[in-house]
Amino acid sequence: MIALGNDHAAFNLKKTVIEFLNSKNIPYKDFGAFEKVEGIDYPDYALKVAHAVSSGECEMGILLCGTGIGVSIAANKVRGIRAAVCTDSFCAKAARQHNNANILCMGERVIGPGVAWEILEGFFSAQFEGGRHQRRVEKIMDIEKDPHMK
Ligand code: RB5
Repeated sequence: MIALGNDHAAFNLKKTVIEFLNSKNIPYKDFGAFEKVEGIDYPDYALKVAHAVSSGECEMGILLCGTGIGVSIAANKVRGIRAAVCTDSFCAKAARQHNNANILCMGERVIGPGVAWEILEGFFSAQFEGGRHQRRVEKIMDIEKDPHMK
């Protein structure tokens, strides 16, 4: 199950993402936002998706905003989250293969639907390679155990 979240700046991109997930028969849970209203704040949706992934309710997540940056910064504050902003398929594949990213972030104001589709193909086709990357990802996750992070 994929957790999906977005702010007001990413409704068109969200349509592309849903089209992609449906075309691959990948189940998803939409955490909103559901309609363009005043006062949509991307951290609220980033947090919902990050908690769904961190708790194990969902295996991975997709977060969308204007740039992908705000949602990634917010999601990466949650324990267990490795959220990666991707603007091309090379980064999307590397985010899975090297970083074991568990949330893909994209920005509607940065990429069009064609590039978004390529990114999604890259992210969902690639596997974490482990090995030396396992050690490095573990070092990242160890940062969360630092008492100064409390
Ligand atoms: C909203 O205007 C915009 O700031 C937001 O979608 C996102 O790009 C933040 O990083």
